[in-house]
Amino acid sequence: MKTKKIAPSLLSANFSNIEKDIKMLEEAGADLLHLDVMDGHFVPNITFGPFIVKAIKNVSTIPLDVHLMIENPGDYVAAFCDAGADYLTVHVEATPHLHRVLQQIKAKGVKAGVSLNPHTPLSSIEEVLGDLDMILIMAVNPGFGGQSFIENTIDKLKRLKQMLKKHNVEHIEVNVDGGIKLANIKKVSDAGCDIFVSGSGIFKATNPQEMIRQMKEALK
Ligand code: DX5
Ligand code: ZN
Repeated sequence: MKTKKIAPSLLSANFSNIEKDIKMLEEAGADLLHLDVMDGHFVPNITFGPFIVKAIKNVSTIPLDVHLMIENPGDYVAAFCDAGADYLTVHVEATPHLHRVLQQIKAKGVKAGVSLNPHTPLSSIEEVLGDLDMILIMAVNPGFGGQSFIENTIDKLKRLKQMLKKHNVEHIEVNVDGGIKLANIKKVSDAGCDIFVSGSGIFKATNPQEMIRQMKEALK
């Protein structure tokens, strides 16, 4: 049985005083910190690179779940692994050499993840299932926080569960990113999710620590 993990997305945190938010998340028992790296090409937004990931690593005891929304991810695998990523996820749509990029991540001793945009079929990763530690299913179109959960994701997750079973790779962790709130977290969990990324769902709550506690309670 895989453990269910809450991964707050720092995209919605206060970057003027990021250490304060990280300490708050540590106290609340967050399982992973989700870091969204955007390049202004693969997605229409720009965030930060390895320099900031390293700065976050220096003040965090929570493992880092680094989500690369960038073109040519293979060129940056070493930099993000060296910066302290514990999980490193690339988009299947962003590289014609997914297998090679996954080997690069694993050679660094980092957990290898692949992410699928909402329109990308599950069959696009069937040939690399044996090389994966994690699959990140986008429940919104990547680029921004605060968007609505795309309902078709539930059906996609159920089909992914079948696919993992068929190929005998049920150890792979399933991560869902986008639009996760207290109101839908149980439904997403029942469909097969293990890691729940939530940005606005946590940081826009009146009490983010209480929100994490309630999300964990909903997953029991
Ligand atoms: C979107 C990012 C998400 C984002 C989620 O491109 O990958 O991680 O921060 O934010 P919410 O939870 O607000 O949808
Ligand atoms: Zn993300």
